[in-house]
Amino acid sequence: MATDYDAIAEDYRRAKAQPWREAIEAFTLMELAGPPAGLAVADLACGEGYYTRRLRRAGAARALGVDRSSAMIELARAEEAARPLGVEYAVGDCTEPIAAGPFDLVVAAYLLNYARDRAELAAMCRGVARLLKPTGRFIAVDTNPDLDLDRTSAFRGYGFEVEAPRGAEEGAPIHWTFHLESGPLRVENYHLPAEARLEALRDAGFGSVRRHDPRVAPGDGAGPADWGPFRANPPITYLEASLGPPDGRKPSALGILGLNPGGDMV
Ligand SMILES: C[S@@+](CC[C@H](N)C(=O)[O-])C[C@H]1O[C@@H](n2cnc3c(N)ncnc32)[C@H](O)[C@@H]1O
Repeated sequence: MATDYDAIAEDYRRAKAQPWREAIEAFTLMELAGPPAGLAVADLACGEGYYTRRLRRAGAARALGVDRSSAMIELARAEEAARPLGVEYAVGDCTEPIAAGPFDLVVAAYLLNYARDRAELAAMCRGVARLLKPTGRFIAVDTNPDLDLDRTSAFRGYGFEVEAPRGAEEGAPIHWTFHLESGPLRVENYHLPAEARLEALRDAGFGSVRRHDPRVAPGDGAGPADWGPFRANPPITYLEASLGPPDGRKPSALGILGLNPGGDMV
């Protein structure tokens, strides 16, 4: 059953404090997003605004966060009221058209992995394309569909576990359990193969799609000394996509998405 973020909004915010979030998740996402100074940015599935605030602080001219959970948006708005940054928030379901934009950059941290089937995934990708200017870019981070499920026990050292009780069939649930001081917090998203994300993005008009592995912030001293198991079997993966025809730098880049899941496509 789809995770009800209304019920776990506060706990999920606490799960963002685990060291890997900053050292790997956010570092890689912000690096791929590039300097947002002066850009209009939308953050889909924004939750309590973790990346929306970050992008605005980094200089985004406009930052809009959208999430279907009203409790998450309430947390985001409360933070905006307490420490105003000029961020806008809206409750909305990203499988439906969102009337906003156009944006230079759309970011979605853990949206696409909430698609339970290819039709929902296609709707999300079409929605992203509609929000973007023709020159715009899309950056996403999601559960890695090529995660080796037999080698996930090492993630316990980072404070979480990932399990797929029904294996890697299309639409099967993926369970993330975050071990917090207050107890375990489980969220559920869904497995669709890498090739499904590629197909949905291409059908939505993204000619250039690259996949990236997570990177560790240089000089990171805050987290576990050894990010080796995280890097050897990354639980998350990134997509970078631009509208329009293939960019020509690597004509086979789209094909590589499914064939070389571990490699950067640059
Ligand atoms: C794992 S949380 C990530 C939140 C935020 N992006 C972050 O990184 O902190 C996933 C979020 O996706 C939202 N979500 C899931 N499906 C959605 C949809 N179809 N439309 C909008 N938001 C959605 C949930 O409500 C939840 O807040």
